[in-house]
Amino acid sequence: MKILMIGVGYVGLVSGTCFAEMGHTVICLDINPSRINQLNQGFIPIYEPGLEEMVKRNIKSKRLSFTTDYPNSISHSDVCFIAVDTPSNALGEADISQVESVAKMLGSYLDHECLIVTKSTVPVGTTFRVASIITSELEKREAAIAFDVVSNPEFLKEGNAIQDFMKPDRVIIGVNNARAAAIMQDIYSPFMLNHDRLLVMDIPSAELSKYAANAMLATRISFMNEMAALCEKLNANVNWVRKAIGADDRVGNKFLYPGVGYGGSCLPKDVKALIAQGNGCDTQLSILEAVQKVNQNQKKLMGSKLSAYFADKGGLSGKTIAILGLSFKPDTDDMREASSLVLIQDLLKSEVLLRLFDPIAMSKARSLLPDLVEITWCQDEYEAAQDADAIVLMTEWKQFRFLDFHLILKKMKGNVLFDGRNQYQPKEMAKKGLDYISIGRQSVLAETDATILHK
Ligand SMILES: NC(=O)c1ccc[n+]([C@@H]2O[C@H](COP(=O)([O-])OP(=O)(O)OC[C@H]3O[C@@H](n4cnc5c(N)ncnc54)[C@H](O)[C@@H]3O)[C@@H](O)[C@H]2O)c1
Repeated sequence: MKILMIGVGYVGLVSGTCFAEMGHTVICLDINPSRINQLNQGFIPIYEPGLEEMVKRNIKSKRLSFTTDYPNSISHSDVCFIAVDTPSNALGEADISQVESVAKMLGSYLDHECLIVTKSTVPVGTTFRVASIITSELEKREAAIAFDVVSNPEFLKEGNAIQDFMKPDRVIIGVNNARAAAIMQDIYSPFMLNHDRLLVMDIPSAELSKYAANAMLATRISFMNEMAALCEKLNANVNWVRKAIGADDRVGNKFLYPGVGYGGSCLPKDVKALIAQGNGCDTQLSILEAVQKVNQNQKKLMGSKLSAYFADKGGLSGKTIAILGLSFKPDTDDMREASSLVLIQDLLKSEVLLRLFDPIAMSKARSLLPDLVEITWCQDEYEAAQDADAIVLMTEWKQFRFLDFHLILKKMKGNVLFDGRNQYQPKEMAKKGLDYISIGRQSVLAETDATILHK
């Protein structure tokens, strides 16, 4: 099958490359010429484990190419996927202007029968809107060309995107005729050899499924963050509560981890967009409104914990705080809506000196933050710890699991660790000489006999 993937971001690049890996011939198109130039020179603009080798392999085998040329690539494709971004607009709705602009290009240049697939996350009604834009463009040039539209929302997770795409839990296909369904089944058949995970449904249900899935995940996170707050007040341990409820098959044990709030390019914007879509049809989504509010507060939590800790130690002003992990989650360089950004802005307002480190997202983070003398960009976690009054773990990168706390304490001025991801055991941390403050568990103070570790 000849596939055109329009939009070469996290979703477009991964999906296009995985389709090529499975034997399809894929052209990836983007309006950003520098992104396409980079890719043509073998430079991968995003970090995703395993992606670089796969891109290079498929370019070499000539199944994968990159272009900015709309007319030529449309003309050479059987199926055109739309994978452009759909960010929030000022009202919190999904901004589908780029999807519409792609539809216009498709209508302007379509010269043969084709299948048009919306892979971007789009509000219910968008796939039909794409169809009507294409139809009106075709009418303008009096071209009688048949096409079908399909909704095929993407469920990959950044950091595990290749695995998710190659071995999907499910593939959602929204169609309004059997012909379109058959083509989609064909495209995905190499991914379904062990398990048929294709769910074929109507187009509005497919569009809504993506939002509903992300809204459910966000709900679980905000629910656990509220439970964690309650645990702190009631002297319970959220880890036990999490295990206890996760052991129930009806609940399941995934996505039950409290933390510093959800971020990334999907959950915040999709929750907002679903609320907006509900409001647009007189259906208030009160649960999601609460989920969103809890998350906004959660992103402020580490800042509040730091303020409280330093309240009787001269306050935060002038303190040096090291932040480990900046990306919104591990194994990605994506900084969109990262909770670290909220913490950094709050700490800068409190006149704190910051020492920042992330294994992968440093350059993306740097491009988003002001160039200030108060911010020092560090080479690693140990350099970040130098002279720090406190360390805050914001992203649970694997390399932070077994830190050399002996060395860290030697470098630090203070001895407090704020763990936004519950990565460590409170008693062990106290034994090592750290004051340890996490989420939904009682804080512990350094054990005095461990102060020998201190300089
Ligand atoms: N990132 C994820 O983990 C993820 C997962 C599932 C679904 N999604 C959804 O997939 C869609 C894409 O997300 P993303 O993270 O890949 O976005 P992204 O911002 O990483 O990439 C979008 C790309 O589209 C390009 N683009 C924009 N307008 C264009 C146009 N008119 N023509 C051609 N190219 C154009 C941009 O230049 C950019 O390279 C969104 O709707 C998102 O909600 C994202």
